[in-house]
Amino acid sequence: MTFNKIAIIGGTGLTQLDGPEIHATHDVMTALGQPSGPVQEGVWAGKEVLFLARHGHPHALPPHKINYRANLLALKELGADAIIAVNAVGGIHPVMQSGVIAVPHQVVDYTWGREGTFFDGEFRPLDHIDLTHPYDEGLRMKLIEAAQQIAQPVSEFGVYAATQGPRLETIAEINRLEKDGCDLVGMTGMPEAALARELALPYASLCLVVNPAAGKADGEITMAEIRAVLQGGMEKVRDLLAATLTHL
Ligand code: HPA
Repeated sequence: MTFNKIAIIGGTGLTQLDGPEIHATHDVMTALGQPSGPVQEGVWAGKEVLFLARHGHPHALPPHKINYRANLLALKELGADAIIAVNAVGGIHPVMQSGVIAVPHQVVDYTWGREGTFFDGEFRPLDHIDLTHPYDEGLRMKLIEAAQQIAQPVSEFGVYAATQGPRLETIAEINRLEKDGCDLVGMTGMPEAALARELALPYASLCLVVNPAAGKADGEITMAEIRAVLQGGMEKVRDLLAATLTHL
């Protein structure tokens, strides 16, 4: 499969793209409201790219208030034919230590009250899409192969737990997620993945582990520790994005 225009949705720690040559900034208004911010359009590693900061720039929108539907619709309307999402996450599985990059293959959705479908009987007639494999396997493989090409270790699997936030979890909640089979925990993976599928947009995610999930290390989780990991970690994510674009 060839992709002509890749949209990157940046998460916490990736609110701007320095790599691409930006030639347009789109202030889009969709039929379902405004996306999190302007969509940048440019060329990066020889590929047409779109970039949207999920939480806006500067970082402001909490995960449960993001208009995921408008974000996805805006990217689709601007011609995206695939989406690479970047997510900062907590690590549950022992291999998911801070600094690890994972390409998740499954999702469990614990969020509530979010507008999570285009097929709501208003915007579009009711429909039930298949989400057996929530991430596009072809795009996942491109990310994994690009990582191999630049010798960037990545976890090739991971079950992503999407929690409501914006607070972090309790130890008991993380224990429950672990029993459910979850390896990573973040607040923004859903409904984004499902909405991309509803628009028939191949979607994959690069997750950067920025802290051990609650109870997986001694003491409390601090924003200072998260910020420290984000700095170096997002550099690696950027390099991997550039390698992926070259490889696509
Ligand atoms: N829990 C949920 N979301 C997160 C975490 C976490 O520990 N770290 C970064 N995003």
